[in-house]
Amino acid sequence: MTTWQKSDWRARPRVQMPDYTDAAALTAVEAQLAKYPPLVFAGEARNLTAKLGQAAQGKAFLLQGGDCAESFAEFSADTIRDTFKVLLQMAIVLTWGAKVPVIKVGRMAGQFAKPRSAPTETMNGVELPSYRGDIINGFDFTPEARIPDPARMLQAYTQAAASLNLLRAFSKGGFADIHRVHAWTLGFLERDEAEKYRDMANRISDTLAFMTAAGVNGETMNGLSTVDFFTSHEALLLEYEEALTRVDSTSGNWIAGSGHMIWIGDRTRQVDGAHVAFCQGVMNPIGLKCGPSMAEDDLKILIEKLNPKNVPGRLTLISRFGAGKVGDHLPRLIKVVREMGAEVLWVCDPMHGNTIKSPSGFKTRPFDAVLCEVQEFFAVHKAEGTIPGGVHFEMTGKDVTECTGGVRAVTDEDLSSRYHTACDPRLNASQALELAFLVAEELSARNDAAAAAAAM
Ligand code: PEP
Ligand code: CO
Repeated sequence: MTTWQKSDWRARPRVQMPDYTDAAALTAVEAQLAKYPPLVFAGEARNLTAKLGQAAQGKAFLLQGGDCAESFAEFSADTIRDTFKVLLQMAIVLTWGAKVPVIKVGRMAGQFAKPRSAPTETMNGVELPSYRGDIINGFDFTPEARIPDPARMLQAYTQAAASLNLLRAFSKGGFADIHRVHAWTLGFLERDEAEKYRDMANRISDTLAFMTAAGVNGETMNGLSTVDFFTSHEALLLEYEEALTRVDSTSGNWIAGSGHMIWIGDRTRQVDGAHVAFCQGVMNPIGLKCGPSMAEDDLKILIEKLNPKNVPGRLTLISRFGAGKVGDHLPRLIKVVREMGAEVLWVCDPMHGNTIKSPSGFKTRPFDAVLCEVQEFFAVHKAEGTIPGGVHFEMTGKDVTECTGGVRAVTDEDLSSRYHTACDPRLNASQALELAFLVAEELSARNDAAAAAAAM
């Protein structure tokens, strides 16, 4: 058996990665990053793997969400706080619906590199290389900004480290107290349009009040005042990933130190490609995006490569087919997994298959299409007898107008007013929370059906 090396990916075909023109500058940045401390500890990644293994069995549920692309310009305590806050609100609602612990994983503190559908972009007759995320090049539509600059990796590392530091402080320092988080949700529900979710929220309020009366509070039970929060991002820029990959002294295994969970995108999952070669060798839980073009034979090889020991929680399959297409694709992938006896966690990303160009010209995602894909995902798993173990959203805590629909109805005309994303359109705080209520209803119906079946 050959031993995996963190540089093995360099001998494989790579796609969606920049060609740095200044090789010396790149090497210098890599050497510098290699000396910096990793952002996460291997014990945390092991802990997350175990939790995801629970989700694969229906004993927990994954909530993964955050920006499509984090940006240097939007970096602030408020941005981090607002997204974290909505994720916590969503987690409480989902816990209520699922009746199992919700594993909270941000697309945060490292989600900087973007695969693009075209290598260049044309505006007013001018063609320039595409923007690939702030860790690679600049968003401005100028030739200078679009040159890949390795020094951006250092800035991304610093931003990720500071973001993670704040997230850890919020998680353990009192900010995440369940009563406080639920009170924010009640605030959202004061709006008339959100009335239909009040019933579920009131039942959560009653439960919390009962627990307090019974002496179960943040002091007697740590889990009510603190949360475990994990980070994740697409492992796209492999020079950055390699430089932060270290040997875990406890186990002797390799760990990608850039975040707790990393995933392979739908455009970089070539079985013999660089990204799979890299992710194969690190111990972090790995996500694999599965779009409509995922072939059964490829999925089989990918599962063998990425989870040869069939460890529960190691591999999460994140399906993203688009509303109306889940029934065409998910069953054939479930069949592969079933035939292999593979341990996987099934998660639904209802964002990336539902991007459209609106009549006003903005890239958007209709709320109803997002919801529809989640519902189809649940329905297929129900029909197949498999477990829908989580959801994956592009969202922000800010009041942006990037996706249309939701109770506070963002219309096509509204899109231009607060369209801030550097990449894909995100659900705003209200849309994200509303979606959590709707997913909770699905989960709750699943529980009721299971309880009814058990009683028969
Ligand atoms: C993403 O998650 O931002 C992304 C690009 O997804 P996908 O690889 O599924 O298209
Ligand atoms: Co995206």
